[in-house]
Amino acid sequence: MPYAHITGWGMSVPEKILTNDDISKMVDTNDTWIQERTGIRERRIAGENETTSSLAVAASLKALKVANLRPTDLDLVICATSTPDYIFPATASLIQDQLGATKAGAFDLLAACSGFIYGLNMAAQAIRSGSIKSALVVGAETLSHYVNWKDRSTCILFGDGAGAFVLQASEAPGGVYSAVMHSDGSGGDLLSLKNGGIKFSATSDPIVHENKRYIEMDGNEVFRFATRVMVQATNEALEAAGLTLDQVQWIIPHQANVRIIKAAARGLELPMEKFVVNLDRYGNTSTASIPIAAVEAIEKGQIKSGDKLVLVGFGGGLTWGAITAQWTGPFPSKGTVRPEQYRVLGRFRSYVRRIIRFIEGLLYRREL
Ligand code: UT7
Repeated sequence: MPYAHITGWGMSVPEKILTNDDISKMVDTNDTWIQERTGIRERRIAGENETTSSLAVAASLKALKVANLRPTDLDLVICATSTPDYIFPATASLIQDQLGATKAGAFDLLAACSGFIYGLNMAAQAIRSGSIKSALVVGAETLSHYVNWKDRSTCILFGDGAGAFVLQASEAPGGVYSAVMHSDGSGGDLLSLKNGGIKFSATSDPIVHENKRYIEMDGNEVFRFATRVMVQATNEALEAAGLTLDQVQWIIPHQANVRIIKAAARGLELPMEKFVVNLDRYGNTSTASIPIAAVEAIEKGQIKSGDKLVLVGFGGGLTWGAITAQWTGPFPSKGTVRPEQYRVLGRFRSYVRRIIRFIEGLLYRREL
């Protein structure tokens, strides 16, 4: 059975920074409260021309470059997101097209902030089953569009960004070892974004549904749930992999609130030094938070090839899950792949295909 190795990684965040002081000019809050209660100092906010797919493509190109893998070698693109560019086409298909990943299937996955864990598991399982050889998993969000900037209990938390992993098959042991995924839909109302679904669609009454355009959250209940499931999911994934906590070098948790991560550290009886934390600079980027934290830890030289990791997340649904993996790094390969060039070719190919489709349409109509 092949193993699913993580061989490439990349991240992309908007340039625009929104500090706690900036938010204190919009709602009744202050930097001290936000830092003490969440650990967040600032977050990134998408500019006018930045979308979930554009951040995702930028992160994916970096991940492909690290893996030294051509976009045309990808078999599958999964985009975990709660803020797709459209309901359909899937953001994953936009990414596939813009990368020029001509052989890849593509789909979006919605499991709120746990989406990256779910997506990574789906891609790893497809590789381990032998049905595909390589996959791109992206977590990407532009949550700022759905934040109610008048609600101080939520607007302090969220930020925009994207992170991507490339997975490749190899007979050498390593990569993703185990995964657990859970859901408890009875807690769906604790964290929700109802906008866009058919119950609150554009054809529904826009005035009645005004407040459904935004993220709604019962912060205390989500906090209580999160501290419980982070410990539970970590232990379950370790048991499934036959690993013990002392064999693990790094825990990469969903970056929601540093107090949740500290509670998980206490619950697992681990020092905070074992946890990758960067939410002070990005806030909660939902599906992007785990890969962004991982990418920064690798680039800082913290995570090294051979290290054993636990990735653990939770979010709306309610959903939660964890993955254990051994960090691999790029496979040795000949030559240097420039994914950016494939992107240019991909754009050209996409343009030509649109023209051919248009001409075919005209000819077909004439035949009728
Ligand atoms: O991806 C999953 C996403 N969600 C989460 O992970 C959220 C988990 N929950 C949390 O992170 C925390 O519950 C929050 C950060 C949302 C809130 O922190 P808290 O320590 O649980 O505060 P609280 O809601 O219990 O509120 C305490 C007080 C209240 O005032 P009173 O009633 O004690 O006078 C709030 O009105 O703090 C007040 N408060 C604020 N004050 C200043 C709430 N938000 C703010 C604010 N600035 N932004």
